[in-house]
Amino acid sequence: MTGDQVFVLNGPNLNLLGTREPEVYGTATLADIETNVRAKAADLGLAVDFRQTNHEGVLVDWLHEAQAAGAKAVLLNAAAYTHTSIALLDAIKAIAVPVIEVHLSDPEQREPFRHHSYVQLAAVEVVKGLGADSYLVALERAAAL
Ligand code: DQA
Repeated sequence: MTGDQVFVLNGPNLNLLGTREPEVYGTATLADIETNVRAKAADLGLAVDFRQTNHEGVLVDWLHEAQAAGAKAVLLNAAAYTHTSIALLDAIKAIAVPVIEVHLSDPEQREPFRHHSYVQLAAVEVVKGLGADSYLVALERAAAL
């Protein structure tokens, strides 16, 4: 349905995509990813609110805002907070909006400290390991919800 809104929320250090560990995350910048997400969203008839912050509490506030806005879904790449943040887990559980967890890399194929995801405990789906395309696949999943 045209007009359904999807929040795409990005956590710490993702503003540095493009130059940050390109061997892990690829060379696409977050602006490149946003451009591709917006193009795909237009195809799918979705509106996108695309944001990035380095601050945990801001992500919590934005999850609440997605609920208040009546968003159809949230795509959440919580970056390192994925592995540490009970506050984010609680926020996801506190809202009715379905959250899809997104990662460029596959954290389970990396260091052991990345194997546990608090976000996954409440997310409806996880899309990971596809590089920048993870966002596009997650958006398709959101459209299908
Ligand atoms: C990441 C994976 C996390 O483990 C890491 O802390 C990130 C990025 C990803 O998209 O692959 O910052 O979320």
